[in-house]
Amino acid sequence: MRFNRHRRLRASGAMRSLVRETHLLASDFIYPLFIVEGTDKKVEIPSMPGVFHFSLDRLQEELQEISALGIESIMVFGVPEEKDEQGTQAYAETGIVQQAIAKIKEWAPELVVIADTCLCQYTDHGHCGIIKDGVIDNDPSLELLVKTAIAQAQAGADIIAPSNMMDGFVAAIRQGLDEAGYEQTPIMSYSVKYASSFYGPFRDAAHSTPQFGDRKTYQMDPANRREAIRESLSDVEEGADFLMVKPAMAYMDIIRDIRDHFELPLVAYNVSGEYSMIKAGAANGWIDEKQVVLELLIGFKRAGADLILTYFAKDVARWLQER
Ligand code: PBG
Repeated sequence: MRFNRHRRLRASGAMRSLVRETHLLASDFIYPLFIVEGTDKKVEIPSMPGVFHFSLDRLQEELQEISALGIESIMVFGVPEEKDEQGTQAYAETGIVQQAIAKIKEWAPELVVIADTCLCQYTDHGHCGIIKDGVIDNDPSLELLVKTAIAQAQAGADIIAPSNMMDGFVAAIRQGLDEAGYEQTPIMSYSVKYASSFYGPFRDAAHSTPQFGDRKTYQMDPANRREAIRESLSDVEEGADFLMVKPAMAYMDIIRDIRDHFELPLVAYNVSGEYSMIKAGAANGWIDEKQVVLELLIGFKRAGADLILTYFAKDVARWLQER
């Protein structure tokens, strides 16, 4: 009788390692940081154990730890104290993110600093654009996003990452950056961003819950797959340098679709709710955190992600060092 003996290549750890198709590296990860105003603050976010709000004066030590772990890039989110209708603090020269970027580039010039470009943390209504007659008004919102991107580039951001899902945001930001002399600054577009309930803990962390309605008129319907291609196609045409799929865990098919359709580097955003679920399961002793996280992240890479934006980045980088 003849049949295939697949188990031959699984017989030992060394044999399995020899035929492993996908690998995780510390340089695959982008680590998110939340920066708050004020001094002497390192406050754990209750719904995201292990993730903190940092004031600038407490950040230096954290940056050293990130670098020492071999992580090469960070995503910076600002949590401002002042919010208004127009999200002024998003693009103010003295805004918390602008200050943070400048300091980070001074303290840790080796880190690639990615700025999340959105208005929702900065507007009093919590939406990612400005409101007219109760709806998010696309084109005037673009002007503010362009101002935000330029302010971030001026502060020293290495990559601009617009996450707002307005139509034309990549085209507008590309043109704005070019005109301001930042034609070398890449755009990492949150090209495929679903209206997801997995963002819940982030909204606690960034104080960015919409004060009325939801984000379904600009973020995508989780039921749609072909639309992800259309969104990405627009961003590629408009000049994006990276594409992103967000969330990641429930959207592995979309990660594979985008990998198969486009040549740009692809980021998977392993979002806050995905993080907190694993933390809660592990805290209860129901799952083995390390093994589950490694399995999940290798899944993102196998699905086609080049980079993974994850709150687990430091933990995984540490586990990789221990191996
Ligand atoms: C801002 C933004 C959000 C996240 C990243 N950037 C929230 C949202 O769209 O409501 C979510 C990240 C996460 O859940 O980890 N637009």
